[in-house]
Amino acid sequence: MAVGIFDSGLGGLTVLDAVAGQLPEVPFVYFGDNKHAPYGVRDADDVYALTTAAVERLWDEGCDLVILACNTASAAALRRMQESWLPPDKRVLGVFVPLIEALTERTWGDNSPPREVDVNHVALFATPATVASRAFQRELAFRAIGVDVEAQACGGVVDAIEDGDMILAEALVRSHVDALKRKMPIPEAAILGCTHYPLMEAIFEDALGPGVKVYSQAGLVAESLADYLTRHPNMAGAGTVSRFLTTGDPAWVSTRATQFLRREIRFDAA
Ligand code: DGL
Repeated sequence: MAVGIFDSGLGGLTVLDAVAGQLPEVPFVYFGDNKHAPYGVRDADDVYALTTAAVERLWDEGCDLVILACNTASAAALRRMQESWLPPDKRVLGVFVPLIEALTERTWGDNSPPREVDVNHVALFATPATVASRAFQRELAFRAIGVDVEAQACGGVVDAIEDGDMILAEALVRSHVDALKRKMPIPEAAILGCTHYPLMEAIFEDALGPGVKVYSQAGLVAESLADYLTRHPNMAGAGTVSRFLTTGDPAWVSTRATQFLRREIRFDAA
């Protein structure tokens, strides 16, 4: 059995690390579309075309279930894929819902009507495409009422991380947090709505200051996947080998990934 993990680039490694830790017996095939990253500045049709091509490649690796470990793809392409593209024997899951369920104190699949929750002022940090889609607010509205969401499009952060320029990434994160605080001075919670951002989590926390609960996706997605596979064991596909695939330069991507995860990672050409 193997499960596919997809991201536009390196950010999904934060999710891969968490799911592999939670499910050590499951082989995972990671696909980073580094050649086309960042997705956050692309339009929805473009993100859809790139994401479906990547998911098909993961099917070839024996992954019937693919996690879109990319908020931009989850926001811009997932619904269209599920409604009109996905064959009945395959599944593609996004990374929004586990996060929103945690924020709204729901257990998996609790589809009861929206209700009041503890947090009322939420800061959302995400890519320009995710913010423009308003997918986060839409999913939240199904589950909670009275939550004020202020979204900050964090232009440039994904590019800086993909380029390995962490000094620039830090400066950009601090300026985006400042911009958010001018619109919402005291958020109660902050959502890191891009899987690249956990790599900058300490900077977000420092810039936001104490008292802001920061939600990031990796651990939440891992718990949700473990739960899903318990209920749908047949969705773990036929693949048996863990591997890392990239559309970018495998040597460069391997070096960056090894630095991020602090263990040896070897990418092959997709
Ligand atoms: N990690 C992707 C996300 O969660 C990155 C987006 C991008 O490529 O801009 O949105």
